[in-house]
Parts: sequence; C-alpha cells; structure tokens
Amino acid sequence: MQTEEIFSLTGVRFSYARPPAPPAWALDGLDLTISRNEALAVLGANGSGKSTLLRLLDALLYPVAGEILAFGQRLCEAAMAEEGFARRFRQQVGLVMQNSDAQLFNPTVLEEVAFGPLQLGLPDSEVLRRSETIFELLQIGHLRHRSPDCLSAGEKKRVAVACILATSPDVLLLDEPTAGLDPRSREALLDLLVDRRDAGQTIVLATQDLELVRELAHRAVVLGEDHRLAASGPANEIVGDRELLRAANLVGQERRPRYTITAPASPPGNPCGRL
Ligand SMILES: Nc1ncnc2c1ncn2[C@@H]1O[C@H](COP(=O)(O)OP(=O)(O)OP(=O)(O)O)[C@@H](O)[C@H]1O
Ligand SMILES: [Mg+2]
Repeated sequence: MQTEEIFSLTGVRFSYARPPAPPAWALDGLDLTISRNEALAVLGANGSGKSTLLRLLDALLYPVAGEILAFGQRLCEAAMAEEGFARRFRQQVGLVMQNSDAQLFNPTVLEEVAFGPLQLGLPDSEVLRRSETIFELLQIGHLRHRSPDCLSAGEKKRVAVACILATSPDVLLLDEPTAGLDPRSREALLDLLVDRRDAGQTIVLATQDLELVRELAHRAVVLGEDHRLAASGPANEIVGDRELLRAANLVGQERRPRYTITAPASPPGNPCGRL
C-alpha cells in the first residue's frame, strides 16, 4: 500500500527578520515528509523552531527559501489567495497554538467552540452536538458560559484544543498541548488524542513532554539548537536515546540541589510536622 504524503518540505528556511536586516534562521534547511495517518512529534529545545514549523504547516507563515507541498500543492501566498484552496486547506488542517490568548476571541467558551463548526456551515443542531461531545471529552462543560479571557492558562489551553477538535480537521497540529495541564486534564486529552490517532487522524505535535511522545507518536523528529533537523526515527527510539536528548537540550545533566532547606523541629504533640 502506498502512503499518502500530506506535507513534503524541501530545504525549508525561515527567518522572521526581513531585508535589509540580515536573516536569523528560525528553521534552516528542513527536509521532512509527513504522511496521512501518521502521529509525528517535533521535539526541540526552546527557540529551536518547533512553533515556527507548525505555523509554516498551517500556512500562517511561508518559507523564505525551499518549499512546502501540502496535499500535493505548493503552499504559498498565491495558493492561499485562491478562495477554493484556502477554504479546503482550512477545513483540512487545524492548529492549536502554543499561546491560547492568540487563538481565543469569542465572548463565551460555547461561542468559541461553536465558531469553527459554524464557519464550516454545519447546521445548529450538529454544532451543538459537537460542542457538547467535546465539552464532555475535555471536561470543560462547566466553563461553557464563561469568557475565555477570564480563564486560567490551563483552562484556556483545553478550550483552545476543544475549538480545533470541534472542526474535525484531517490534520491536527498541536503546539505544546499538555503544557500547564494538571494530571487529570492531561490524561483526558491524551486519551482523546490516542483515540483520534487510532482512528487514523494525522497528528503533528510540538512538545518537550517526552512521556506524551512515547504514548502518542509513531515517529519523532528533533530540531537542534542550530535550527536544523538533528534526528528522525521511531518515537520510542528517539525518546530512549539519552545522548541525543542531552545534546538537543531535551534532558538536563544529573544535578544535585545547591541548597537544602532544613525543616524546623516539630512542636511537641505534632510529630509529623503537619498542621
Ligand atoms: N515573532 C517572532 N519574531 C522574531 N523572532 C521570532 C518570533 N517568533 C520566534 N522567533 C525566533 O525564532 C526562533 C524559533 O522560535 P520558535 O518559537 O519556533 O521556537 P520553539 O522551538 O517553538 O520554542 P519554545 O520551546 O520556547 O516554544 C527563535 O530563535 C525565536 O527567538
Ligand atoms: Mg514553541
């Protein structure tokens, strides 16, 4: 069986600096293919280019050099200016941003989650059904009448994930989806993503959460601090390669704490020191 390439990147370079400023490469010469039904993790230290890669895959940015093919067509400003292509692409690809504040703008959580499905032209009854299903799966139903502005960072992240899942894109791009989530929320999200993966959803995930990579991803790529591809391979092999992870600044050196705090003696009658 032939695997279908969803994205194909050849020699992709990107710099946020624009001429006459000299380029400062956020990604430098990236070759990468992403296939349908694949769960791919993008690992890398802070500033290595993970979010930039996801923004490029979502056509929020375009390469300065090299090219990206999406569904066999070159992803560039001209293609996204074609209404038909842009609409299809936005239906097929959904990005959960690292910074939820950049994604959320509706007055209530319910309107936020319903926004995408309504834009797709789905009937109200289907929009409501999808919203309620997602609320239950991500355990955020109690937030439905709250303003996204007034939520905690972890609550915002769960709402941001819900918004994209509600549109059922073919390709799910997730930028640090578990960052800042408490254990129960993380488990709920992980269960949901594993189900989606097993149902054949294509997932691209930028993260430093090695456990998440181990549980969810088929394959992992590592971006080095030089913004180049440092490694690519089966997720469990990449996550098990301590030397590679240390070189890419994804795990630290073994370190003894520099300061130890000595607890004061417990008062009489309170041997455990608990209040
Ligand atoms: N809006 C921007 N303007 C200028 N430079 C930027 C901008 N966003 C990112 N950069 C730079 O591009 C490079 C890659 O950043 P990016 O956000 O893609 O890294 P990252 O791997 O997602 O990091 P993190 O783990 O901190 O999320 C970094 O050198 C960063 O300083
Ligand atoms: Mg990032």
